[in-house]
Amino acid sequence: MNEEDLVVILNALTEPVLLVNSDRQITLANRAATELFGEGLEGRNLVHAIRHPDALDSVDEVLHGKADSEAIISMAGPLRETYKVSVIRLDDDRGIDANAIVGLRDISHVLEAEQMRSDFVANVSHELRSPLSALSGGIETLQGAARNDPDAQLRFLDIMEREAARMNRLIDDLLSLSSVEVNERIRPSERVNLESVVESAIAALETQSKASKKPIRLQPPDCDCTVLGDNDELTQVFHNLIDNALKYSRENGEVGISISQRDRVTGMSRSAIAVAVTDQGDGIPAEHVPRLTERFYRVDTSRSRDQGGTGLGLAIVKHILNRHRGKLIVESESGVGSTFTVCLPMEKPAQKT
Ligand SMILES: Nc1ncnc2c1ncn2[C@@H]1O[C@H](COP(=O)(O)OP(=O)(O)OP(=O)(O)O)[C@@H](O)[C@H]1O
Ligand SMILES: [Mg+2]
Repeated sequence: MNEEDLVVILNALTEPVLLVNSDRQITLANRAATELFGEGLEGRNLVHAIRHPDALDSVDEVLHGKADSEAIISMAGPLRETYKVSVIRLDDDRGIDANAIVGLRDISHVLEAEQMRSDFVANVSHELRSPLSALSGGIETLQGAARNDPDAQLRFLDIMEREAARMNRLIDDLLSLSSVEVNERIRPSERVNLESVVESAIAALETQSKASKKPIRLQPPDCDCTVLGDNDELTQVFHNLIDNALKYSRENGEVGISISQRDRVTGMSRSAIAVAVTDQGDGIPAEHVPRLTERFYRVDTSRSRDQGGTGLGLAIVKHILNRHRGKLIVESESGVGSTFTVCLPMEKPAQKT
């Protein structure tokens, strides 16, 4: 193989690769390396591309006889990508002007996923700990101070029941999140009428709506609202959104729901059916809006906890909508209320006239 063939092969790789000679001079940079570090690398010292001392030490070790070496480096700059640098020795008798091959692999997403996993475990443990300590506290009181006090016993049993129910809800939500994640890549194929899905979500929340004196009004749809979807999952989406509207709106505030066709939705290639759930609440400050669908994210943690919330509702909504290739649009005005709009692709592309 000649050097031209080598260049063709190295350019076909998506990962940056540099060849260096015994003086640590770059003798060849593939296309991905040029994209990462800029043009004109050949002939210059490797330090012009990679300034990180750990990576340079690895290269020096290999140039001084070691077979291979690795280093993890973080790039400066806004993205702060992390790369794994692998250096492998090339013997002199290969006939190419290089003594080491330096490959870089972007491992930022792997580290990010690890971080997310450990944050998730930390969050779940934290969320379970508070009801659990309330339960242990209750047991201790029943065994001790409240042993001969029937009124106190009833009070503590009541608290314990609530806390146990909270743990149950958390576990239900976690299971539901994981089952939605498992199915996320499988496109749903049932024909679903969104009006009846919304109606069944409303029916399930009727008691809550009456108890909180917040009526739910569904306007008759102005379009054929059939989409390809999963009936149960979409019911869960509207259940979560209407539940939030009831929980986080003002006393006597009305929850309005409309269903309409939208021909242009950012990020969607075809017309959509939009279901908008509007509440008359305090609204959500703008800086919180982009983070609402993160797991366990709450604007006001104690308010959400008081309402029995786990902070997973909108994370579940987001995953279900991803599976349906849909979008969630959140609009909120302080002191007026919020509108959460679910956009789902229409069954067929709209006819162009
Ligand atoms: N309609 C709304 N008005 C005001 N704030 C809202 C509204 N919907 C959601 N939020 C805010 O977003 C947070 C996250 O909502 P999400 O539904 O994910 O969790 P939750 O309601 O706290 O708990 P869960 O839904 O798991 O019971 C809420 O805690 C609340 O602070
Ligand atoms: Mg919720």
